[in-house]
Amino acid sequence: MSEAVIEKVDNDGVVRLTINRPQALNALNSQVLTALEKELTELEAHPNLRAVLITGAGEKSFVAGADITEMREKTPEEARAFAGQALRTIKRLEALPVPVVALVNGFCLGGGCELALACDWAVASDNAIFGQPEVLLGVIPGFGGTQRLPRRVGPAMALDLCATGRKIDATEALRIGLVNRVMPQAELEAYADELTKQLMGNGPRAVRGAKQAIHDGMDQDLDSALALETSLFALCFASEEQTEGMSAFVEKRKPNF
Ligand code: CAA
Repeated sequence: MSEAVIEKVDNDGVVRLTINRPQALNALNSQVLTALEKELTELEAHPNLRAVLITGAGEKSFVAGADITEMREKTPEEARAFAGQALRTIKRLEALPVPVVALVNGFCLGGGCELALACDWAVASDNAIFGQPEVLLGVIPGFGGTQRLPRRVGPAMALDLCATGRKIDATEALRIGLVNRVMPQAELEAYADELTKQLMGNGPRAVRGAKQAIHDGMDQDLDSALALETSLFALCFASEEQTEGMSAFVEKRKPNF
């Protein structure tokens, strides 16, 4: 039997997805996107989802882009359908109600960078390389890069990257805000374990509420977004989590969420 193109490990609701096509540096083809859609359908129905970590198989690449071999012969209509599938899938990943974190373990190019941009945050190994090199292939980013990249790093830097196709290292990615942290590749696992521990120690409803407030608020004007925050903040006080969290503080013990 052939190996799954997406591997999933569920650790008490912290789900690790690994894109597993190392022979093509984990490039995103229709098979990977379809497998990812299937995983998302399961994650959306997960009764106890706490976080999602996404990474690439092997030590060389997170995702080296959309699959060029598959795209090469596409007509405009077929390209539209391919991009449509990717955009839909990436949007569903972004819309999961829990933190989605990219563990960028190497090349993070084109569609790979666009996948990482749809995650709530990204951490990178110090050998990671980022870029939107589509112009070198005669095309533009098609999996959301022209929209999510400027929202994360600003329009000037986004066009710098998209128009030149230049690749940047992890240090520059950190400097421009594309990733939150950089560490030696050997430490990515420890980071993932530590993050899992931190998230498992926090109130799950509160973590979801923080994501919802930030995500939904970003698309609104400030007053509406602040009103959203107030509603979500108030809602916390209808939960056992708030009672337990604040009681634990006062009683000088660890909360048990
Ligand atoms: N699609 C398909 N196959 C890919 C791929 C991709 N995006 N990236 C790498 N591969 C394949 C290579 O063809 C090669 O396969 P073979 O062994 O069968 O020849 C294998 O992965 C290993 O790659 P290299 O031998 O090239 O490895 P390298 O270390 O010499 O170079 C690299 C690594 C710089 C990442 C180089 O592979 C590369 O430039 N890849 C393409 C990166 C790219 O242009 N990405 C953007 C794609 S377009 C896109 O994503 C559009 C969009 O927005 C939707």
